[in-house]
Amino acid sequence: MTAIDAVRSQLVEHEQEHLLTFWDELDETKRAELLADIESVDFSGFQAAWAQAHKSDESVDPTGFAAPACLDVMEGRRVRAAGEQIIREGRVAAMTVAGGQATRLGVDIPKGAYPIGPVSGASLFQIFAEGVGATNKRYECRVPWYVMTSRANHGETVSFFEKHDFFGLRRGDVLFFSQSMIPVASVDGKILLEDKHRIAMSPNGHGGSLTALAETGILGDMKARGVEFLSYFQVDNPLVRPVDPEFVGAHVTKGSQMSSLTVGKASDDEKVGVFVDIGGELRIVEYSDFPVEMTGRKNESGGRMFDLANIAVHMLDVAFVESVTGGDGRVSLPWHRAGKKVHAVDLSTGQAGTADAPNAVKLEMFVFDALSLADKTMLLKTDRAERFSPVKNAQGVDSVATAKRDIVRRSARWMGACGVSVPTKAGGEPDCVLEISPGYADDEPALMERETGTDRKIASGETLLLRC
Ligand code: UTP
Repeated sequence: MTAIDAVRSQLVEHEQEHLLTFWDELDETKRAELLADIESVDFSGFQAAWAQAHKSDESVDPTGFAAPACLDVMEGRRVRAAGEQIIREGRVAAMTVAGGQATRLGVDIPKGAYPIGPVSGASLFQIFAEGVGATNKRYECRVPWYVMTSRANHGETVSFFEKHDFFGLRRGDVLFFSQSMIPVASVDGKILLEDKHRIAMSPNGHGGSLTALAETGILGDMKARGVEFLSYFQVDNPLVRPVDPEFVGAHVTKGSQMSSLTVGKASDDEKVGVFVDIGGELRIVEYSDFPVEMTGRKNESGGRMFDLANIAVHMLDVAFVESVTGGDGRVSLPWHRAGKKVHAVDLSTGQAGTADAPNAVKLEMFVFDALSLADKTMLLKTDRAERFSPVKNAQGVDSVATAKRDIVRRSARWMGACGVSVPTKAGGEPDCVLEISPGYADDEPALMERETGTDRKIASGETLLLRC
């Protein structure tokens, strides 16, 4: 049997022999690339993940859903000092998952490089870096920042940081690691080709971060630095506080292994995952799996019963991550399916293109499924206007425009709290474009310290950037 015959029979065994459709047309270099792609795929693992994703997505049973217990903002304030002490002792690291493909935003740069500052044009990465820098300054510590990328954006992400000299952070304190990729398939499970000689692959979901932390040696780096707690957030939320003393304090004082920050939902049909209690345990159910008829259900006081939205901000114990990933980095998180538009080759015509409607299924692990692996969890509520405005779409809801608007609104609110008179339009919206960079002030009290005695005036229509 020739080498290609052996590959073909392996593919036949997994019903993926169509991957060789264009073999006869390929030159030697392209054949070698295709063979390398095929070799890199764990076909049995893919088959198992595919079968399991279909099972787990069908198995959401809403009958046992109840509203979960949740700590409020005041509780967070009470434990702030404890959190500050832990940060000061260098026991907390920041971690950003930035391996996604940002297909909805539709830009050809890593999402973190997107300029979101309404006045400064600062990128999401810069805003987070300034937040980490502000924490370092305030608590006289060096918070390591771990950034997860994927094959699709690793090089560009690292170059972006290099080009900007790591935004003033020490190079050695910003560490990048890449998550694994998994093949993308059509709805019937046939793996797609993105080119006649390349298999279509996508990152394995933000849940892949846990495996990647173990596999890439990052867990070892954390332990060597004395990091015990991870402050996890996504690349798309410019209002996030990279290391939040109140959240750290609540996580540690409650003895939680994995905790989540939450806000009230914006509307019944907001496209966010929702926290539920199932049999006394905290879980998140994705909006696509949440029964529509339950989204508007009321509690006894007339409020929304399932109101707590997942904003993808979590605290994780490093020891917990280590225990769930075991020695080999594998973690038993369920696989989920996501319908996506991907660039693929039509096997009958050989033409490659991107579909107008979802033409493919990506398999993903979700980090929040790790809540089910924790013995102790905790949920803390915070204020949406202060902490959450994701950049998901190019336009409309959760877009560049709404995130910029929310940065201006928050800046105006902080200014108002400092006694500065902020001009407003008829509907109450600030009549100015105002941005406070986290390096200048990363919360309201920090701004008060800066602004006391400045006698600042803001004119209607003014554009103002406060930065160091
Ligand atoms: P999203 O679910 O918004 O996905 O990711 P996305 O890939 O960025 O965007 P779309 O759906 O293609 O438009 C939420 C967060 O999880 C990260 C993203 O970078 C973002 O911070 N993520 C997602 C990963 O790090 N890896 C993944 O495989 C998927």
